[in-house]
Amino acid sequence: MRVCMIGTGYVGLVTGACLAEQGNHVWCVDIDEDKISRLNAGIVPIYEPGLEDIIKRNVSQGRLKFTTDTKEAVKNSFFVFIAVGTPPDGNGNADLKYVMQAAQNIGSWLEGYKIIAIKSTVPVGTTHKIKIIIAEELTKRGRTDIDFDVAFCPEFLKEGSAVDDFLSPDRIVIGTENDRTSAFLRELFSPYVQREPRILTMSITSAELTKYAANAMLATRISFMNELANFCETVGADIEEVRRGIGTDKRIGPAFLYAGVGYGGSCFPKDVKALIRSAKEKGKDLTILQAVEEVNINQKYNFLKKILKHFDDKITDKTFAIWGLSFKPHTDDIREAPAIEIIKELTKKGAKIRAFDPVAMDNTKPLFEDDPNVCFADDEYNALEGADALVLVTEWPQFRKPDWERVRELLAEPVVFDGRNQYDPGKMKQMGFEYFGVGRHQG
Ligand SMILES: NC(=O)c1ccc[n+]([C@@H]2O[C@H](COP(=O)([O-])OP(=O)(O)OC[C@H]3O[C@@H](n4cnc5c(N)ncnc54)[C@H](O)[C@@H]3O)[C@@H](O)[C@H]2O)c1
Repeated sequence: MRVCMIGTGYVGLVTGACLAEQGNHVWCVDIDEDKISRLNAGIVPIYEPGLEDIIKRNVSQGRLKFTTDTKEAVKNSFFVFIAVGTPPDGNGNADLKYVMQAAQNIGSWLEGYKIIAIKSTVPVGTTHKIKIIIAEELTKRGRTDIDFDVAFCPEFLKEGSAVDDFLSPDRIVIGTENDRTSAFLRELFSPYVQREPRILTMSITSAELTKYAANAMLATRISFMNELANFCETVGADIEEVRRGIGTDKRIGPAFLYAGVGYGGSCFPKDVKALIRSAKEKGKDLTILQAVEEVNINQKYNFLKKILKHFDDKITDKTFAIWGLSFKPHTDDIREAPAIEIIKELTKKGAKIRAFDPVAMDNTKPLFEDDPNVCFADDEYNALEGADALVLVTEWPQFRKPDWERVRELLAEPVVFDGRNQYDPGKMKQMGFEYFGVGRHQG
């Protein structure tokens, strides 16, 4: 089948490459000329495990192409996906300008029947607006004879395991207005699901809300655990014990129950905010989600307060080794990453930073290029040299079991702030560290 993917970011590139991997012919389009040139030169602009191999294989076999030419890509495709960004605007609403621009472009170049499927996360009602925009463009061109259908196909992949998530998804949601569109999209996606019930067809409105609901639910679990973790510190309980105690209950399950410095990334913060805003516009208050957002914002500051308290609020000229910059492991994405905020707050108070991340340093360096107090280390041990404390922010596997003797030798003071509860408080104490986790019983 022939596919055009408008937007070649984390979602569009992974989706395009994985659709090509199943034998489809895919055109990935982007307005970012530099990104497309790099892709055409064989450089993958994002870090995503397994993606480079798939891209190379499918490019060499002629099934995957990159272009800035929307007209050519639309003309050559039957399915046209929109996977452009929907970042928050100044008020927390989803900014739909890229989506609307993509819709206009499609309307300008449509020559025959196609299915326009939205993959970007958009508020309820947006797919309908996209349909109107495309129809208006066709009217302007005097081409009301051209038929097309719209659909909403939310993407549930997780950065860091996006390829695996796409190739074997828990489910595929297809929101359509008619059976014809559902049938075509089922055919496109059926290779990725073993059992038919895992393709869920529903109305476009339900599909649009399903995407926000999924992210909002996951964010809720994280904020719930963070709030309980703070209470654990008050009463002397240990959130890791509580997590195991509830996560083994089949009705609850173990996923997304980890306390830490709060959720970040390009999806949870913006999607929770956008859902709250879009509900407000319709006169509804989503009170649980308002609290979820508030807990999440406070969580970073709770962690910072712990650091400040340990140093009696005097961190001028203290040096902190920061382990992990990306918003989670296995990605180079630093959008809304807690580490960035933590570094900014620490340096604002006069501290110096020695940071290390396995893949996100190139994205982070430009943010701090004018700040002489932030430097980037060659590896995690180099980051520790002379630092007054280690601050673990992103739980990359290589930070899981460090050589603690070496860590203690390199640090000026044996102090560890563990923002992801990776280490055992009792063992840390035994090894001579002052250890601070999130909601941990200090032993
Ligand atoms: N990143 C994730 O983990 C994830 C997961 C599920 C859903 N989503 C949603 O998918 C959407 C895309 O997210 P992303 O992280 O891939 O964004 P991204 O910022 O990485 O990529 C978006 C791309 O779209 C391009 N673009 C913008 N306007 C364009 C146009 N008119 N024509 C062609 N290209 C255009 C940009 O240049 C950019 O390369 C968002 O709505 C997001 O909420 C993201």
